[in-house]
Amino acid sequence: MTISPSRTDELLALRAAEIPRGVSNAHPVVAARAEGVRLWDIEGRMYHDWVGGIGVLNVGHNHPHVLAAVRAQLDHFSHTCFQVAMYEPYLRLAQRLNARFPGAASGAATSTKTPPVKTLFLTTGVEATENAIKIARSFTGRPAVISFTHSFHGRTLLGMTLTGKKAYYAQNFGPFAPDVYHAPFPYEYRGVSVEAALEGLQELFRTTVDPSRVAAIILEPVLGEGGFLAAPTAFLQALRDICDLHGIVFIADEIQSGVGRTGSFWAIEQSGVQPDLLTFAKSIGGGLPLSGVTGKAEIMDAPAPGGLGGTYAGNPLACAAGMAVMDLFDDPALLAHSQQVGQRLTAAFLALQAEVPEIGDVRGLGPMVAMEFVQGSQTQGTQTKATQTRAPAPELATRIVEAARRRGLLLLKAGMYGSVIRVLVPITVTFEELEEGLVILRAAVLEAVGR
Ligand SMILES: Cc1ncc(COP(=O)(O)O)c(C=O)c1O
Repeated sequence: MTISPSRTDELLALRAAEIPRGVSNAHPVVAARAEGVRLWDIEGRMYHDWVGGIGVLNVGHNHPHVLAAVRAQLDHFSHTCFQVAMYEPYLRLAQRLNARFPGAASGAATSTKTPPVKTLFLTTGVEATENAIKIARSFTGRPAVISFTHSFHGRTLLGMTLTGKKAYYAQNFGPFAPDVYHAPFPYEYRGVSVEAALEGLQELFRTTVDPSRVAAIILEPVLGEGGFLAAPTAFLQALRDICDLHGIVFIADEIQSGVGRTGSFWAIEQSGVQPDLLTFAKSIGGGLPLSGVTGKAEIMDAPAPGGLGGTYAGNPLACAAGMAVMDLFDDPALLAHSQQVGQRLTAAFLALQAEVPEIGDVRGLGPMVAMEFVQGSQTQGTQTKATQTRAPAPELATRIVEAARRRGLLLLKAGMYGSVIRVLVPITVTFEELEEGLVILRAAVLEAVGR
């Protein structure tokens, strides 16, 4: 008897034949529809989606308020190009994001008033990266840029050059953009303390690029692709001081960590450190492509007219979606819920770590939580003893992702060694849905470690 291939098999064959392999696919799943935390494939299988299109769906798939806003805008017009004919959603959304710009440390003796802020809209995350660097160079008149090891800032030529997770993303795509330097990102679990990271930056200044040539330091307050390492407050404060001392523009890349992902609207708010520019994308559009740069007006206004923009940049449908997302965050209950989701995830992962020594590290900020897996099994006589070798275990992480998918949970890996499993679950997830996902995750981990 011949078994006829499923529709999924047919479409996977189409994918292999028609799409280049350079675009990777985390899961052999073809989506049919999605709502909230749930995604159904074309076979009718339901998954808990803890990836959210890589951090795009903090308010969940197809949020009704977002859908209604986009539909209403569609009835008016879908495109004019902001540079040709302006429209209110672009202006109003900028106004709201300017009001959300991270302030100075509350109550701190050095507390400064938030200066005037302006926002530029674009389409994809990496465009925000590119434009933030353009703006910083224009403002300072300097060429050099410093980013960090383990970082990810996008896939264009400059984005790849800035990215500190090179082997995977930069491959042999060079030559890369000039005058970009990498400093160490603190990674306590792997022996890089805040002091060591700061010393690395000073060494870079001494040996490679004089700080007077540096236009910008760009940093993710919580590394996304790099494995959910949160920059310690002391590190962010030190960077702020270094930028002030040398007249360097401090750019916070909040493309993955922003819009409620860490329990505050922007991750960097929790440190009380104020960046000069902030890049955003992903969840601001609630599923529509929208990105941008928000920052101090005197810096944002450095480029002359014509230097910034883009045909689709700040598309009206995406701005309408962005307004709806901002409406949802006007209710403080959403961020409060996000914090509770974070507490539950962290507690569940720590409990799992107590059972599974291969979970070397549990870390993150708020509900932006991850587990780093290490090789732990060592046979001693007849006993298998789990040890903390800290050798990365990417194959184990892959087996967990696959076991979870078979059981109905979509996960995504991260980290320099591919050994981290990160959670980008919608922060609108109910506690009941969260527990359902956690049950699957625990079973998948236990299956993969063979216990
Ligand atoms: C921190 C960070 N910066 C930049 C980007 C690039 O965004 P995009 O893929 O929309 O160009 C990403 C995407 O994952 C990201 O996580």
